[in-house]
Amino acid sequence: MTDQDPQGDTPRSAILTTREKIERLRRARTNAQRGGGSKRIERQHASGKLTARERIASLLDSETFQELFLFARHRCTDFGMAGKEMPGEGVVTGIGAVEGRQVFVAAQDFTVAGGSVGEMHADKICRTMDMALKCGSPFVSINDSGGARIQEGIDALSGYGRIFYRNVLMSGVVPQIAIVAGPCAGGAAYSPALMDFIIMVRGSAEMFITGPQVVKQVTGEVVSAQELGGPDAQMQSGVVHFIAENDADAARICKDLLSYLPANNIEDPPDLLGNGELLLADDLWLDGVIPDDPRMPYDVRPVIRRLVDEGKILEVQEHFAPNAIVAFARLNGRTIGVVANQPAVMAGVLDIDASDKISAFVRFCNAFNIPLVTLIDVPGFLPGVAQERGGIIRHGAKMLFAYGSATVPKISVILRKAYGGAYLAMCGKDLGADRVAAWPTGEVAVMGAEGAVNVVYREEIDKSDNPEAARASFIAEYREHFASPYVGAARNLIDDIIEPSQTRRYLSLALESLRAKRELRPQKKHGLIPM
Ligand code: HXC
Repeated sequence: MTDQDPQGDTPRSAILTTREKIERLRRARTNAQRGGGSKRIERQHASGKLTARERIASLLDSETFQELFLFARHRCTDFGMAGKEMPGEGVVTGIGAVEGRQVFVAAQDFTVAGGSVGEMHADKICRTMDMALKCGSPFVSINDSGGARIQEGIDALSGYGRIFYRNVLMSGVVPQIAIVAGPCAGGAAYSPALMDFIIMVRGSAEMFITGPQVVKQVTGEVVSAQELGGPDAQMQSGVVHFIAENDADAARICKDLLSYLPANNIEDPPDLLGNGELLLADDLWLDGVIPDDPRMPYDVRPVIRRLVDEGKILEVQEHFAPNAIVAFARLNGRTIGVVANQPAVMAGVLDIDASDKISAFVRFCNAFNIPLVTLIDVPGFLPGVAQERGGIIRHGAKMLFAYGSATVPKISVILRKAYGGAYLAMCGKDLGADRVAAWPTGEVAVMGAEGAVNVVYREEIDKSDNPEAARASFIAEYREHFASPYVGAARNLIDDIIEPSQTRRYLSLALESLRAKRELRPQKKHGLIPM
């Protein structure tokens, strides 16, 4: 034990006046807030990164940050750590407001021991998470760290364990957003992975379980850190949800995302209008969207934009499984989650990645009371050896499970194709959709006409004098019978067939009628979603 003040230079033995004690506090605060000092801060800036405090400032409304645990100190005495100063313990934690709504935040300070995670560093984060949970407020972590603090050994590992445990406790109760703004390697990557959304910063962020050197040693593969775990790589792997161009852009994306979300699973998402007004106007542009030739692709993104407030959407995982689109948007001021097949990419087919992308989004929306609008134009699940070996059955089942277990309002619109199991996986009536509408171009069938005719009429076609003419005639007959929405409507599996231009009106009225929807399910510990 030294006889120096822990944060300053005043001898303990001195009897201080109140004024001196206040002065001592000021010095201690300035000292703890200085981070790793000017050289390390310069280095941080030179590498294009903001400091932890600058990142927090760019996220929060000005003057709203209340810092917590500034004076935390490590207890490590190994490997030269005794008495070593670590201002703020390498992480800045506290509470603030984002556009007037409370969030809890922890930003790792790379300028202090590389933002490495020791016992007290983790303790600061855990206590902040505990309070976020208690107060029902979102938690944002800004990660920039060399990982477990090597000198603290098992205490550092334990710290990570405590963070992971809280990530799990908070899951589905308050939104959790990770901004990965620097290195995030090894087990450290699992905290963001347990959170709801990861925003990764281009140029400075890397996430991987083992870095390039270990990969080379173990598998012989030579790869750069960015190729292995940069934002583009981790977007393609489906780990990351948004890519930011820099730290300020990451804060912007985070704020935008938070604007769609409720503070917790008991509240409803924000209502920006708050006046109950519904926009019901027809949009004739939509009547011209579907090409006459059912094999022709079209881009569903503008369709989504035409249906929602101000044409504004926040797409999640835009560059992962682009054959499906998932996005937050607003209808009459209230948040909705939009899921759509994208016919412009692989004809909008559902593959393993699209199934994972959609399932995760549906689960999130359901947990946080966000109604789901599903736009269907899907030719089926993707056939192929690679898809079967990769477990398309297991992954596709996640969609059925996610939609089937979702109790938020679910509205589906069949734009064109709704074939086979994919029709159900995109939330057909039997998966619990509260409303299903079809455009007159809708086609609900077990499979496409060409495939169906080859199975059902193969013999007749083979025996025919003119097989091609026979095939064409059977295809026309099949299309006439099945490839329309009227059979489904006759069975009450489609509530209504609507003109595309009236879709916004349909969605607005349907959502309004479902606002008080309550759906009770049998009590259970938890369901067993296929994994
Ligand atoms: C203690 C660390 C540290 C760590 C960095 N530092 N990582 N101190 N424990 N894990 C310190 C450095 O000593 C240095 O201190 C300062 O942070 C900045 O580090 P530099 O190496 O100078 O920075 P840079 O060149 O930018 O390289 C950053 C880096 C590198 C790539 C992150 O530091 C690095 O490889 N660190 C070790 C990464 C690692 O293997 N971590 C353990 C992963 S396993 P000074 O005083 O000189 O400024 C893990 C298990 C978690 O995390 C398990 C959970 C279940």
